[in-house]
Amino acid sequence: MKLALLLYPHQNIRYRPSLLQIAEGETKMIMNAMEVSFSLTREMIGGAQFLIIETEKEMSRGELAQIWQCASMYMLFECVGEEMRPLPSMRLQYIGEDLPYLLKYKGKTNEMFTDSMITMGVCCSDFARVFDSQLIVCDPMAGKGTTPMLAIKRGYHGVGIEIGKSNVEEVTGYMNRYFEFHKIKYKHQATSLTVRGKNGGTQHKWVFSDSNAHFKDGDTRSFRMICGDTRNAMAYLKGNSVHLMVTDLPYGVQTGTAGKEDGLFATVSKALPEWFACIKPGGTLCMSFNTHTIRRDNLVSEGIRAGFTHVETGEMNHWVEQAIERDLIVLKKEGKKA
Ligand SMILES: C[S@@+](CC[C@H](N)C(=O)[O-])C[C@H]1O[C@@H](n2cnc3c(N)ncnc32)[C@H](O)[C@@H]1O
Repeated sequence: MKLALLLYPHQNIRYRPSLLQIAEGETKMIMNAMEVSFSLTREMIGGAQFLIIETEKEMSRGELAQIWQCASMYMLFECVGEEMRPLPSMRLQYIGEDLPYLLKYKGKTNEMFTDSMITMGVCCSDFARVFDSQLIVCDPMAGKGTTPMLAIKRGYHGVGIEIGKSNVEEVTGYMNRYFEFHKIKYKHQATSLTVRGKNGGTQHKWVFSDSNAHFKDGDTRSFRMICGDTRNAMAYLKGNSVHLMVTDLPYGVQTGTAGKEDGLFATVSKALPEWFACIKPGGTLCMSFNTHTIRRDNLVSEGIRAGFTHVETGEMNHWVEQAIERDLIVLKKEGKKA
């Protein structure tokens, strides 16, 4: 079977080579998770960038649905002879198609990049085959919540931990306005959190559904935004409770309070064992970082020291802006061996 993946073109031509590289990495991870043998090539067709997948066997509807997880992909075609036939979208779409895109701010991670990281995290985990179930995705350094918003868009549960109070307040106002505007039934609750017996932040939790009928039946999803220090993650989340963690570490340029006292790397080193404890066996942690402030091999070593194994992802290093060269790693909390 021959498939052609039309990629989203980036308006800024400087980003296109890195997007192509990320799209390739993402597609390979999706295919590897399905254990289908395939070849992957780049092709320009009619001036647009495509990735071509060729497999010996026909792909099932379920397998095609998995390809629709590819965040970099705009449309999927089946190639038959000279013809390219568009295949209907099977992208996971639960709620809020526009939710992750409306809030604009400096320091926001590109939504498509974050979405690709979620896909990579899923595909490298033991939950790849249940990618369309109610996974719990946490961003332990969430900023204004791009990751948990993308998670609920897919029908997952989203959780964010963020130290910046104003970030959490902005997300709170935005989520309430979004649900009200779209007439989505929801419940919002704010609770105080304790860490080692002391006041340790606030949790905002929204419970909502894709329809009023589902909401009434209790078929709901949740979105949580925790205002607190990620080094205390185990005080906020249950152990072995999160399928995936996906995060874009502070760049050490202008974002982030991590680092003020003891440095970004020290903060992440301290947080990694907490993150490990929160992730379910078989789950993954997908982290991007600025190579000007953190070295890949140091981050991998700290991850291994916390108990993770390193998943090989291939070259992902790419230019973002003058002071930011971004890379990403995937770490796995190995599941119980059968
Ligand atoms: C690169 S930004 C994340 C941006 C996010 N992906 C978005 O699109 O909004 C990193 C975030 O980590 C947060 N942070 C830094 N240190 C932290 C800590 N110790 N605990 C929790 N969050 C922290 C910063 O406040 C910052 O918002």
